[in-house]
Amino acid sequence: MKILCPYGTHRVIKPIGVLPQAAQIINNDMVCEANEILIDVKTLNIDSASFHQIYQACNGDLKQMEARILEIVNSRGKMQNPVTGSGGMLLGTIKQIGKDLHPKVVVGDEIATLVSLSLTPLKIEKIIAIHMDTDQVDIIGQAILFATGIYAKIPADLDKILVLSALDVCGAPAQVERLVKPNDSVLILGAGGKSGLLCTYQAKKNAGPNGKVIGVINDISQYDDLKAIQSCDEIIIGDARNPLEIYHKVLEVNNGQQVDVTFNNVNVIDTEMTSILPTKNSGIVYFFSMATSFTKAALGAEGVASEATLMIGNGYTSGHAELTLNLLRESPILYQIFMKRYGPRG
Ligand SMILES: NC(=O)c1ccc[n+]([C@@H]2O[C@H](COP(=O)([O-])OP(=O)(O)OC[C@H]3O[C@@H](n4cnc5c(N)ncnc54)[C@H](OP(=O)(O)O)[C@@H]3O)[C@@H](O)[C@H]2O)c1
Repeated sequence: MKILCPYGTHRVIKPIGVLPQAAQIINNDMVCEANEILIDVKTLNIDSASFHQIYQACNGDLKQMEARILEIVNSRGKMQNPVTGSGGMLLGTIKQIGKDLHPKVVVGDEIATLVSLSLTPLKIEKIIAIHMDTDQVDIIGQAILFATGIYAKIPADLDKILVLSALDVCGAPAQVERLVKPNDSVLILGAGGKSGLLCTYQAKKNAGPNGKVIGVINDISQYDDLKAIQSCDEIIIGDARNPLEIYHKVLEVNNGQQVDVTFNNVNVIDTEMTSILPTKNSGIVYFFSMATSFTKAALGAEGVASEATLMIGNGYTSGHAELTLNLLRESPILYQIFMKRYGPRG
């Protein structure tokens, strides 16, 4: 008899013994086991670092991107980019609930998964559309959620595509809420992106009027949205891959001081030292970016004798989904920007 594991190891094909996230191949037969939930998938929200990597590797060609996504899912049984190792999450409707599970949701409910696509069994019948501006892919397909897989029911008061976009990065503002103290100086790299905007907003809430929030964007086109949410005391336009340039610019706007906390929210490689250098020895660097290299961060910090606490951006923090959706509910301007960028299409 098949032994069903709450973490989904019963679906691991290769190598045997690892958990589904670390597996190269998992079983994506869409037969709902007693401890699983079967989902009809509508939209995949590909993690930004992964989407960006696929976009670049395919020179932005839609047909090539479609073929690459199908190749990954067909060969691995899950949407885990072999280059970045990251996944994303999905929006769908519950089709079947295994007999051993007694969740709060019922068949027919719409949910967004809060566990990574990098461990979620997925089968794609057809790709309907790839949305370059939101990193989302509409598909006909199915997915499996394990007994330990968390998800959020789509609330009635917010658009589901908006919710999917926001929940993709909900771990980030939730960690800001934990780490930023009143009067802190806070640096946010990639402040004009999806998680960057949410983090900036939450950072100002925590740091308060006597704290200082410094946002780094790489392009002037992101300035107006960032300015509009009124959470940045300073906005720096610069390339997060240039550590010294950003370091000096941060000191310039922060009275010659390094900052207390830094959040890395970019989607490109080689930004580890741009996070570490401007941060105090006693400070914290939170690497939310999936393009972060542990080796570069650890050895780079050692190389400049930084004792800053380096934290891996865990996608999960308890209450993260509700906290993030509440930010959109409480800030009309944040809501408007998210609707404009990530809201329902046509
Ligand atoms: N830890 C987790 O659990 C988790 C979960 C989800 C996502 N992530 C990761 O979190 C990161 C942010 O995700 P997101 O959805 O917020 O991405 P996003 O909306 O694409 O934002 C990334 C931002 O970084 C900017 N950027 C790119 N290159 C830059 C550079 N050289 N200097 C300064 N800024 C630069 C981008 O600007 P342009 O638009 O001009 O390129 C964009 O504004 C990604 O790495 C993603 O993979 C982590």
